[in-house]
Amino acid sequence: MFKRNRFVVCADLAALSQAVAEQWSVIARHAAATRGAFYVALSGGSTPRRLYDLLSQEPYLSSVPWQATHVYFGDERCVPPDHPDSNYRMAREAFLDKVNMPSRNVHRIVISEDVLASAERYARELKQHVPLKGDMPQFDLVLLGMGDDGHTASLFPGTDLLKENERVVGCAYVEKLKAWRISITFPVINRARNVFVLAAGKGKAELIRQLTQEPQAHHYPIQNIEPLGEYQWFIDQDAAEFLS
Ligand code: 6PG
Repeated sequence: MFKRNRFVVCADLAALSQAVAEQWSVIARHAAATRGAFYVALSGGSTPRRLYDLLSQEPYLSSVPWQATHVYFGDERCVPPDHPDSNYRMAREAFLDKVNMPSRNVHRIVISEDVLASAERYARELKQHVPLKGDMPQFDLVLLGMGDDGHTASLFPGTDLLKENERVVGCAYVEKLKAWRISITFPVINRARNVFVLAAGKGKAELIRQLTQEPQAHHYPIQNIEPLGEYQWFIDQDAAEFLS
């Protein structure tokens, strides 16, 4: 269910990015202080770019314990790492190359010709390095976006990945994009200590209205997010247009 207090409504994308950067820093410092490490899964797309730029600047350059930070990706397009569509390239250019974090702490989704093998390789990497909660890797923070079809990460309507309850990573051919995608699955997202959805712009307003005012009438992939931990949406005024 989408409770009103789940939404942090910010004036604009800049304020939204600032609010998330602050929370990232708090969560990262707490995780590093209590468990010695901070595990985060990044989202792709355009919305988080501003946040990633902020993280490459003060005060976050100094306040985030980058040496104890381990960066993963919630999903990836099946393109080379230097391709303009690569989520890894976007994050690398925005902040990964600018913060004081060992390169071994960045775990991109390595894409090979065999998409299934790439997904299975990434699954092994998650299970090997991210602390488990029960049988699932447990991130301290998972960042997500939302597409206008209600997809999140690369969990798109009409794909079998929506029903995946055991594997931690999967791949799917997305018909509307005519492209393969690799994504973490809902069991991993829902095991996280903190899940943040970032949504900005008028293009998200109608979907947020549907999710909050008539949730029973829809079955968007993003409605499968029901995390054990903190679950917060950070949206701007435009995306909040129909939020009561
Ligand atoms: C991706 C993302 C995807 C994204 C949404 C929203 O790889 O594209 O993981 O889930 O978050 O499509 O994208 P925008 O932020 O560009 O609206």
